[in-house]
Amino acid sequence: MDFTNTILQWYAENGRDLPWRRTKNPYAIWLSEIIMQQTRIAQGTAYWERFMKRWPRVEDLAKATEDEVLREWQGLGYYSRARNLHKAAKQIVEIGHFPLIYNELIKLSGIGEYTACAISSIAFGEEKAVVDGNVYRVLARYFGIDTPIDSTEGKKLFKAMAEEYLAKDAPAAYNQGIMDFGAMQCTPTSPNCLSCPLVETCYAMRHHKITELPIKSKKIKQKERKFSFIYIRCKNKIAIRKRGKGDIWQGLWELPTLEMVEKEKEKLQLLVSKIKHILTHQIIFADFYLLETNTRPTLSEDFIWINENELNNYALPRLLEVLIEKL
Ligand code: ADE
Repeated sequence: MDFTNTILQWYAENGRDLPWRRTKNPYAIWLSEIIMQQTRIAQGTAYWERFMKRWPRVEDLAKATEDEVLREWQGLGYYSRARNLHKAAKQIVEIGHFPLIYNELIKLSGIGEYTACAISSIAFGEEKAVVDGNVYRVLARYFGIDTPIDSTEGKKLFKAMAEEYLAKDAPAAYNQGIMDFGAMQCTPTSPNCLSCPLVETCYAMRHHKITELPIKSKKIKQKERKFSFIYIRCKNKIAIRKRGKGDIWQGLWELPTLEMVEKEKEKLQLLVSKIKHILTHQIIFADFYLLETNTRPTLSEDFIWINENELNNYALPRLLEVLIEKL
């Protein structure tokens, strides 16, 4: 059996039973794709279910406030995804119907090539091949492709291969099949080659290149930054502010924060130090202090004082959520 049919058969037998696979509702599928780009299926499913329950239709999501959407997204990180999701919901309502083809989907905020291919193939059966990390890995290993997946040439090559092997009469099953195959069978570090239906014709298996493929050329340059967050508690009130544009965590709320400045340490109680938090382009080292005081310190005007027990109404960076849990 050829590669394509093996993937289809493997998917029929092993594909995951996920709630958004029981529907052709493009809104439900779109939501699942945006959430799953951000997390593992097990965690993402709970988010998908909460979003669907709170905003069952795209019109409902469009009517939500951005803060509500960010709050529901909290814990997933990369809030620009949530912001774009909300923006696209408004664009869809403006258009008057959910776009039914790839060429229209790709115009929406936050919908790039991958997501447009996924939605159009899964919801509408359009002949579009997805390329994600799973697809790179499966194709690179099975066909023995050593072109770096993050090079222009590699991206073109893998896209062309994905299109070539796409099951033209079953794009939804094929795309989801190759992604599940990559996530469950042909996994990054310890693939289950013993039980693999493609093992006999797999290039990487025959040439002992499973750990080498796929190849990535660049490493993202990450800048290191040192933050100290200060939890100022003043008679049950705490000070927070919304972060502005031009830096990480835009639009999320934060505690008074010092970056690389010698701290006024006397009254500060160090709760946690040197927590390492890795973002795509930055590595943050964080200290976390508590300042208990009966007189409100003067802070810049953009800070607001909120009741301590209402903090969970504000979308925070994942790093701050983790630190505040330690209080
Ligand atoms: N990861 C993200 N979207 C997926 C899908 N539709 N099927 C399998 N894995 C995925």
